[in-house]
Amino acid sequence: MDAVYRDTWTEINLDYIAENIRSIKGILPQNQHLIAVVKANAYGHGDEQVARVAVEEGADMLAVAFLDEAIALREKGIQQPALVLGAVSPMHIEAASCHNIRFTMYSVEWLREAVKQCANLQTPFYVHLKVDTGMGRLGIRSKRELEEILQLLQNNPNIVLEGVFTHFATADELNSEKYNVQYESFKETVTYLAERGVCPPYIHCANSAALLRFPHETFNTVRLGIAMYGLSPSMEMKKVLPVTLKEAFSLHSRLVHVKRVHKGDTISYGATYQAEGDEWIGTVPIGYADGWIRRMQNFQVLVDGHFVPIVGRVCMDQLMVKLPKKYPIGEKVTLIGEQAGKQISIDDVAGHLQTINYEIPCMISYRVPRLFIRHGQQWGRTNYLLS
Ligand SMILES: Cc1ncc(COP(=O)(O)O)c(C=O)c1O
Repeated sequence: MDAVYRDTWTEINLDYIAENIRSIKGILPQNQHLIAVVKANAYGHGDEQVARVAVEEGADMLAVAFLDEAIALREKGIQQPALVLGAVSPMHIEAASCHNIRFTMYSVEWLREAVKQCANLQTPFYVHLKVDTGMGRLGIRSKRELEEILQLLQNNPNIVLEGVFTHFATADELNSEKYNVQYESFKETVTYLAERGVCPPYIHCANSAALLRFPHETFNTVRLGIAMYGLSPSMEMKKVLPVTLKEAFSLHSRLVHVKRVHKGDTISYGATYQAEGDEWIGTVPIGYADGWIRRMQNFQVLVDGHFVPIVGRVCMDQLMVKLPKKYPIGEKVTLIGEQAGKQISIDDVAGHLQTINYEIPCMISYRVPRLFIRHGQQWGRTNYLLS
């Protein structure tokens, strides 16, 4: 069944994602490996479709947060090598190894357990060593641990060190002090490994912020996330972006009911909105269960090229807007995106919610179908009925 009966959808412009990747590759040194970060359903954009486009645009590898996300990609037919960035128990190595999935090795204890799990594997298992240079999340923090890891790897050739990496805590801030400390610390580790003849094929530290600001400090691989989706890693960085990024995610709905209310009439739970006179009120079928949370009350949407306010509380599946005039049922409502030259950007929504842009597409739930645009045309969509 391929029907979609809902009047609310997101549009994911995969052409923009492809263009963003091309623009970003344009500022990087030649022959960099590209790891496309498609965790969290590709930041809410659709993991399968984004992965396909990223691979078409030259991604060598995909990165996800946990093993289930990687296996889900396999089940959708994506075969590119995939790296799990988060912590996965070595107990799951066998499940990963048959899917061409590599794990992050983040401690000596992890490797000791992995050695046991790999004892009977028929093929080598690939790992990327995570070095904690200041993020304080995952990774080894000392030379002693590094030495122990090298020793264990030497004695266990069925575990192959395919990569070494770190993650920056502040690359999106214009003050580079902490970034520099982390970068130098990582460089030292890479040099230490090289001096011992250990040169894994993938050496990576740069997320979007780091690769956009310091494209020549990326070793031989980048991990590209937020900028691929057309978003700036921070508001600070927006002013200094070296490339034009195109926002790929937009969110739309339609008016399903339009009515005239009169002075004193109230709208929605808690009766928090009271009409000041005769007003046109439209009902839009999107609510907090779709990720358009209650704090979106008093924000705005676009109708017929006009910014109109969300009035009254946002319900689980619906919200109400105050219209400048009567509009027909079915009139398009844009919650994120453009209408008649006006725009509500993801950064605008993030600003209203006092959060970062990363969170916004991630919070739009599986209930909202993703409709994909590729080569200027509709290229399939997700379907709630099949999910
Ligand atoms: C380890 C790691 N690398 C890379 C990324 C991608 O970062 P960004 O989306 O800022 O490019 C993330 C995202 O959170 C991450 O956790």
